[in-house]
Parts: sequence; structure tokens; C-alpha cells
Amino acid sequence: MKVCCDDENIKYSQDLWSVLTKAKLVGAGAKQDAPYKGQAPHGAVLETIHAEATVNGHKGMAVVKRNYGGEGVSVDAVKKDPAKYLKAVTVMFKREAGYDPDNADWFWAKYKPDGSLDKNPKGMQLAGRVMKGADKGCIACHSAVKDKDYLFGKQS
Ligand code: HEC
Repeated sequence: MKVCCDDENIKYSQDLWSVLTKAKLVGAGAKQDAPYKGQAPHGAVLETIHAEATVNGHKGMAVVKRNYGGEGVSVDAVKKDPAKYLKAVTVMFKREAGYDPDNADWFWAKYKPDGSLDKNPKGMQLAGRVMKGADKGCIACHSAVKDKDYLFGKQS
């Protein structure tokens, strides 16, 4: 099985991004949420939004995390000018059963603010079963909260 970051998962991440854009969860027209002080490896300030989304006919829970950082970042600064501090958008999307039964069928993606995919140091575009089986990366770290459906924050 392809683990991640192949063409199929990259294409899927683009479909997911356009659905989230229409829902005003990401992109230039994104609605503001409630920024709070975050933690590594995500941003110094974060917003986390849970919303249902339908991608290619499949309806699932999307968890969108906006990661803010940069010089002068603070909760107030982000409230005033979110675009200035937005560094990345990390998303978990609950795929159809069987997509990744070992890891609760989550699809993982890390986008830049413009919706293009971020890459890891090896140059892999981060979309799909990201770093499945490795000792680092989305799945490895989120496995610490496997019993909470891989969610550190509130459950969907
Ligand atoms: C080293 C550990 C670690 C890695 C690697 C990591 N995360 Fe997270 N992630 C966290 C922590 C801790 C939180 C809770 C942050 C908070 O809200 O304060 C979190 C929260 C999230 C959330 C919000 C849902 C939740 O769990 O509360 C999403 C979505 C998310 N991460 C996506 C990703 C994606 C996609 C990747 C890979 C590109 C990734 N994460 C890599 C630790 C990690």
C-alpha cells in the first residue's frame, strides 16, 4: 500500500483544500476563529476548527488547525491581522472506512497558507497517511492520543 504523498493523495489534498475554501475554513476568505496560545510543533498561536466536509462524495469530520508564528506573534496580533502570521494549515480529515484502518482512517495534510502542500526535509509533499510507520511525523506523534481518536484537543 502506498503510504503517503503519492499523486493520488496529493490530488485528494487539493480536492479537500477546495472544499475547505468554499466552507471559508481556509484561504483568503477564511472566517476568523478564536486564536489561542499554542505549542510545538504546531504554531505559537493556533486556531482549531472542527467541521463536517464532503470530499468526492464522502462526508467526514475535518479538523483544521491554523498555525500562526513569526516575529511579534501573539493572540492579539493574530486577531488583528491573521494573514500576516499564518504559517501553515494542518488538517486531519476522516476518510472512508478502510483508507487507513491502523490509524483510524485519518487523512493528514500540511498546507502553506496559499493551499500548496508543505514538504518535509526529504522533499515529500505532506498529504495522505503521513509518515505512517515512521517514528516521527503526524501519525507517530498523534498516536500518543490514539485512545482519543488521535486528537489532542477536544474530540469531534
Ligand atoms: C511532535 C508531535 C506532533 C506532530 C509531529 C504533529 N502534531 Fe498535530 N498536534 C500536536 C499537538 C500537541 C496538538 C495540540 C495542539 C494544541 O491545540 O495546543 C496537535 C493538534 C493537531 C490538530 C488539531 C486536532 C487535535 O489533535 O487537537 C491537527 C488537525 C493536527 N495536529 C494535524 C497535524 C498534521 C497534519 C501533522 C503532520 C503534518 C501533525 N499534526 C504533526 C502534536 C503533533
